[in-house]
Amino acid sequence: MNPIPSNLVIDNGDGDEPMSNTSANRHFADVLNVHLSRRNALKGTLGASIAALFGGAGLAGCATTAGTPAAGRSLIGFKAVPVSSADTVVVPPGYKVQTLVPWGTPLTGHLPAFDPLRNSGADQGHQVGSHHDGMHFFPIEGKDPYNGSSTEGLLVINHEYVEPRYMHASAVGQKLGRDAVPALVNGKRPADECLKELHAHGVSVIHIRQEANGQWGVVQSRLNRRITGLTPMDISGPVRGTDFVKTKYSPDGTRTRGTLNNCAHGVTPWNTYMMAEENWAGYFINRVNASGRTREQSRYGVRHNESRPATSRYGWELADSGADEYTRFNVTAQGASPTQDYRNEANGFGWMVEFDPFNPNSTPVKRTALGRFAHEGVIFQPAVEGQPVVCYSGDDAANEYIYKFVSKGVYRQAAGVANGALLDEGTLYVAKFNDDGTGQWLPLVFGQGPLTPFRFNSQADVLVNTRLAADTVGATKMDRPEWGAIDPQTGQVYFTLTNNSGRTTTDKANPREKNRWGHIIRWTEAGNNPTATTFKWDIFLLSGPENDSLFAGKPLNADQIHNSPDGLWFDKDGRLWIQTDISESSMNQGDYAQFGNNQMLCADPRTHELRRFLVGPLGQEITGVVTTPDGKTMFVNVQHPGATTSADDFAAGKLTGTWPHQGRYGRSATLVITKEDGGVIGT
Ligand code: FEO
Ligand code: CA
Ligand code: CA
Repeated sequence: MNPIPSNLVIDNGDGDEPMSNTSANRHFADVLNVHLSRRNALKGTLGASIAALFGGAGLAGCATTAGTPAAGRSLIGFKAVPVSSADTVVVPPGYKVQTLVPWGTPLTGHLPAFDPLRNSGADQGHQVGSHHDGMHFFPIEGKDPYNGSSTEGLLVINHEYVEPRYMHASAVGQKLGRDAVPALVNGKRPADECLKELHAHGVSVIHIRQEANGQWGVVQSRLNRRITGLTPMDISGPVRGTDFVKTKYSPDGTRTRGTLNNCAHGVTPWNTYMMAEENWAGYFINRVNASGRTREQSRYGVRHNESRPATSRYGWELADSGADEYTRFNVTAQGASPTQDYRNEANGFGWMVEFDPFNPNSTPVKRTALGRFAHEGVIFQPAVEGQPVVCYSGDDAANEYIYKFVSKGVYRQAAGVANGALLDEGTLYVAKFNDDGTGQWLPLVFGQGPLTPFRFNSQADVLVNTRLAADTVGATKMDRPEWGAIDPQTGQVYFTLTNNSGRTTTDKANPREKNRWGHIIRWTEAGNNPTATTFKWDIFLLSGPENDSLFAGKPLNADQIHNSPDGLWFDKDGRLWIQTDISESSMNQGDYAQFGNNQMLCADPRTHELRRFLVGPLGQEITGVVTTPDGKTMFVNVQHPGATTSADDFAAGKLTGTWPHQGRYGRSATLVITKEDGGVIGT
């Protein structure tokens, strides 16, 4: 076994899912290139062929609403803001910004005041978590996720991960990068630091209200709640009770503890919230050589004895207390049977997790029928009484897939939160994008097609190994699927493909092959029926700089350039909000400097307008957006401000960015955006 130096600084980089798809399936860029070259033959030039992808104009694969340029009244009325690399938030003239619920805001229990160097692990369990991400505003009536009060509700926020150097007194003066933890002491981590990091993960449920002066504030309320990396959770669906999830904590395989790396989210039609478990694999280590891992671990990139360092992402398994809420992150087989150790602990992660934010005692439920992968989030088609429920989820890792779930049972509005059981039985599909602009949803059903007993032994096996099942049926490898959004007027589904770092080279001539900048794909289900098994797709937007991008047949202009689209949301009027996540390793450097800090744009797919609405401060990504039902208050999250501070600068106390300038370090927080004239955001 590879020994761990007793004073090791654990630094696992950026925590992204490693590329672990070794299947021979075609890559989406290959499909796109063939698609483009066919158009080439038809249209003569590459430029014309790309334009054809956007304009529609009767071409197969483009039979969408994009074929009606400049139709209708513009939804966008604001003046675009320029790119910015200042340590501040920039919004258009006529808009105001308030900062709300930064990391550490006292929320429950003894309401501990925020003090990053003195707060205990227990304190953090009563404060707003860190690294705000996907989010929803639930009107306070608790009936409908999109209708009700626009001045009071529950703001539910995901907390994706942590930046340990900003959390602990022991970190001060040490050379720590953005993912590093303070140096081990005698080969161990202080358990209270591990507790603090686990408590900073998860979700916050925050009762908020707009006061008479227009400012929003937190209400001291029985509904305020923290869900963390330690909260007990039920396992439901086909994997419940199977050998895959039996552990010392849950010998019958029905429960697990905590949710981790909750990136984007989902909102069900029955007014519950879903947390997505994205880059969870790195939180575990199996101390065997790479080839000794189970396929449930290796296809997802669970760390192993040849990893450098041979620890989990944050080294929680090394907690000096030895308590099993920490040691469980070591998934090495050590006991006489799976119920005497935590060899199966990682199988309890990689799911979509549902809970009812209006019931503070509700137990979150891991809905295994939706598959196990690096779920970015989940997006639901509008529910129709008496019809199946349909939702989509992307697997955000290089060369992974896009999935759709269709419930077996049908939606009944009167059933309320009991509709959640619909997510326990149904068909999980994976997308295949064909060269001709058509696509197919390939079912991942045990016993169907190649998913035979030779390869899998049950539907639970198919679901725990969703990526392998998708490889087996021939899904199309995508360039890191991030958020999805559904056009409220057409039912058309949009997905961001943020970039593919595994394909990054210095060749700037063909952005689609290199995909340094990312793009947005969209599709229409056959017959506009969400349960259809075929669809037609096209490219909505090729992100990038002015000389290497395309939208509605034209290169992006100075008001539009951006890269690495990630967050995506349609407001009810049909504005598409696009958020960017340039990685900290590229931001404001070299070719990426022209884009400035991460930003949010607004598009109108009907009029083909696109304008930059907001730019965030230094070092962060903009992620998570929603408005109140009246559209007049918008919530936007700023995640990891100041993360571009180098290890040397951190040690020297020189910080690159400290937004929102409330204390020693930067703090993730929510922006509350309103118009000075009280109008709808975006007009
Ligand atoms: Fe957490 Fe895929 O972004
Ligand atoms: Ca994201
Ligand atoms: Ca991202």
